[in-house]
Amino acid sequence: MTTRSKWTTVPGLIALAVGAIALSAYAGASSSQHSSPVQPIAFPHPVHVQKLGMNCLYCHYTANKSPDPGLPALSTCMGCHNLVGPDRPASDLGPKRHSAELDKLYKYADQKMVGAGMGPNAKPIPWIRIHKVPEYVHFPHTRHINAGVTCQTCHGQVQKMDRVYQFATLNMGWCVSCHVNGYSQQEGLEAAGYAPSSPAPAAPVAMATDRKKARYDCANCHY
Ligand code: HEC
Ligand code: HEC
Ligand code: HEC
Ligand code: HEC
Ligand code: HEC
Repeated sequence: MTTRSKWTTVPGLIALAVGAIALSAYAGASSSQHSSPVQPIAFPHPVHVQKLGMNCLYCHYTANKSPDPGLPALSTCMGCHNLVGPDRPASDLGPKRHSAELDKLYKYADQKMVGAGMGPNAKPIPWIRIHKVPEYVHFPHTRHINAGVTCQTCHGQVQKMDRVYQFATLNMGWCVSCHVNGYSQQEGLEAAGYAPSSPAPAAPVAMATDRKKARYDCANCHY
């Protein structure tokens, strides 16, 4: 790093960090960390992701295409649940039982019985959205996913959450610190729980070269 770039980046970072702390008191328009609303159906991520091995993008399929990943459509669920109905036989997924949560799913789908398909009065499941940045913030999911940032880096290990909660603060200091310090694939895989932690952290200066950095000028994130 040249002397000049040291002087241009370091004071900028301090100013941003101070700004972010001062502003966090006014951050009323965004969602809050740890928030974990009760959803209309107790949807189990661990069953679908860990036991059934589904990919996050199977349900959140627009995450790598659109700025907004969206909550899954009812038809995505019914692709399987047309046949996987409320009466669960004993299997390696659990004992024989009747699922009250799948009853609810069948009500939203207006489906009377297994295999019958959705009825004419099917209506969308009113999922409660958890993560939200204020309107004046520009956050393109696609750019992050295409840059290889794992979902869990920002959302935590959703595959282990019985009920999803907001893992990160989503405040400006959080965004800026990753853009400034950069992101490495190894950290992302560790955050995802897909890779063992590296034995010893490399020297910060040596690490800096593998890190993917992003712009942190105001106009990058603010309209
Ligand atoms: C790829 C197929 C597939 C898709 C897509 C799918 N599921 Fe499932 N789901 C399953 C299977 C298989 C089980 C486990 C059933 C068992 O335990 O016997 C399950 C279990 C569940 C359970 C737990 C049932 C219980 O009480 O044990 C709920 C609730 C559920 N799914 C809701 C949903 C919702 C809501 C969606 C859409 C967002 C969805 N599923 C999408 C296959 C799928
Ligand atoms: C079978 C479909 C399915 C799969 C696979 C799935 N999800 Fe979800 N996801 C849902 C549903 C339904 C909701 C809304 C209900 C809830 O919050 O549990 C949701 C909610 C979320 C939310 C909260 C969204 C908000 O409101 O802010 C995040 C974050 C999320 N999922 C991440 C992931 C990640 C990461 C993976 C892969 C490890 C994944 N999901 C795999 C169906 C799925
Ligand atoms: C760099 C951090 C970051 C990464 C990586 C990331 N997200 Fe998000 N996610 C966010 C933020 C920030 C929001 C709130 C965005 C907003 O309000 O516009 C969000 C919102 C969401 C939502 C709810 C918003 C909606 O459109 O309904 C879902 C679902 C979600 N993310 C799933 C995923 C999945 C799945 C992945 C991986 C394929 C992923 N995210 C990767 C930061 C991230
Ligand atoms: C864990 C690291 C990380 C976090 C957290 C993060 N970003 Fe990023 N961001 C990146 C990376 C990596 C890129 C991709 C840069 C590239 O494509 O070269 C990126 C790209 C962007 C871009 C596209 C413009 C550009 O610089 O190429 C915007 C806009 C952006 N981020 C906004 C945000 C906002 C807003 C937040 C917080 C809500 C956030 N980011 C949180 C790592 C992160
Ligand atoms: C990497 C993305 C990113 C960059 C770069 C960024 N911001 Fe932000 N900013 C955010 C996010 C996300 C929020 C909302 C969350 C919060 O309030 O902490 C925010 C909030 C704010 C707010 C708060 C408004 C309020 O009412 O709370 C102001 C003002 C602001 N930013 C100004 C700036 C200025 C000035 C710069 C350039 C020095 C800048 N931002 C650079 C992401 C960014």
